[in-house]
Amino acid sequence: MSKYFYPLIENPFSDDDIRKGIKVLKSKQLTLGNTTRNFEKTFTSKINSKYSLMVNSGSSANLLALQCLINPYRKERLKKGDEIIIPTLCWSTSLWPIIQSGLTPVFIDINPITLNIDETQIKKKINKRTKAIMLIHVLGNSCNMDQLMKIKKKYNLLLIEDTCESLGSKYKNKYLGTFGEFSSFSFYSSHQISSGEGGMICCKDKMDYNIIKSLRSHGWSRDTSFENKISKKNKHLDKRFIFFNSGFNLRPTEITAAIGHNQFKRINSLIRIRNINRKKIINILTNNRFLKDKIYIYEKNKFVTPSWFGLSIKIVNTKMNTKKRIIQNLEKNGIETRPIISGNFAKQPAAIKYGLTKNNKYPNTDNIYNNSFFIGLPTKKIYNHYLTRIAKAFEKSFK
Ligand SMILES: Cc1ncc(COP(=O)(O)O)c(C=O)c1O
Repeated sequence: MSKYFYPLIENPFSDDDIRKGIKVLKSKQLTLGNTTRNFEKTFTSKINSKYSLMVNSGSSANLLALQCLINPYRKERLKKGDEIIIPTLCWSTSLWPIIQSGLTPVFIDINPITLNIDETQIKKKINKRTKAIMLIHVLGNSCNMDQLMKIKKKYNLLLIEDTCESLGSKYKNKYLGTFGEFSSFSFYSSHQISSGEGGMICCKDKMDYNIIKSLRSHGWSRDTSFENKISKKNKHLDKRFIFFNSGFNLRPTEITAAIGHNQFKRINSLIRIRNINRKKIINILTNNRFLKDKIYIYEKNKFVTPSWFGLSIKIVNTKMNTKKRIIQNLEKNGIETRPIISGNFAKQPAAIKYGLTKNNKYPNTDNIYNNSFFIGLPTKKIYNHYLTRIAKAFEKSFK
């Protein structure tokens, strides 16, 4: 049994999700097939993307986007040393695909209110080598997309949206993940939908779509627009196994596709329940006499219709080590907590080992690491006795 009465996520699977997974298992068609293709189609039409391709994780989606940008089949490919702007508040696999693709990340601090990239700082970091922005939409929120798109246009930059934490959020009625050339989504446990492991990559260009399709499956031409041309040129080869590109194997299984698709069909209701629960929890915490001046709840940015991942909380008036103590107490009192992504990634040992930090200071990201955290949001209706228990556990932890 879980040690938490308030876990990051309770069982994310409905009985029907499990039935759909078992049906695939019984069919014995576990490798990529129509179940995955159907999910891709539904995803494309719901979020209004141009092309979607399911992969085995959100990390793989980021990797494919970056690998596509340096691919020789791309008309305009990025070259070694080209720079990509990225907020310091990012996940490891938002960052590493940049380095793994021979490109150079350039960190930018975050806006302390939205937790997203501080778009007002981007221009300062742009030079001749700047080619793209890797945007992270943090926990269901986003930066000012109007301003960001203006910068993108003015400096002719590519945009990759890491939407792994924000499936279903909209900015001015347009889904996050449909602004840039590429976007990634994660279906890992506790995200807006979950298939255990899984993810989706979306893109706007047909050639990019065919490149990532080949990269997803070993670099072969099968099922891509390259297939006929390549096989005509290479008549001596078995048409089914022509490897014309570099490649990985980042495919999902049909089981994860079936479960992900089934959950995706009810995403609107999952978002709605999380929003209702979020309001109830905020209400009980901020109306609590003891807690109300000790916590600050992060709110959505202007023009964002959020699909919340979790509830982000700042501990007000923190002294050194206060957060550590409170987090330990919350965990002991049955509330599961998480840091807000990785904190300042430039301070993680891996970034230091790879020499990615050049004495730049990112005070806003440091601050949120020192004083903020998040808790999950239940996807089932919650009742008063549960809310009272949450408030009591918070009170006890803040004493
Ligand atoms: C912002 C961000 N990007 C990428 C990922 C990676 O997704 P996955 O766990 O599906 O590989 C995560 C994971 O939670 C994330 O939060």
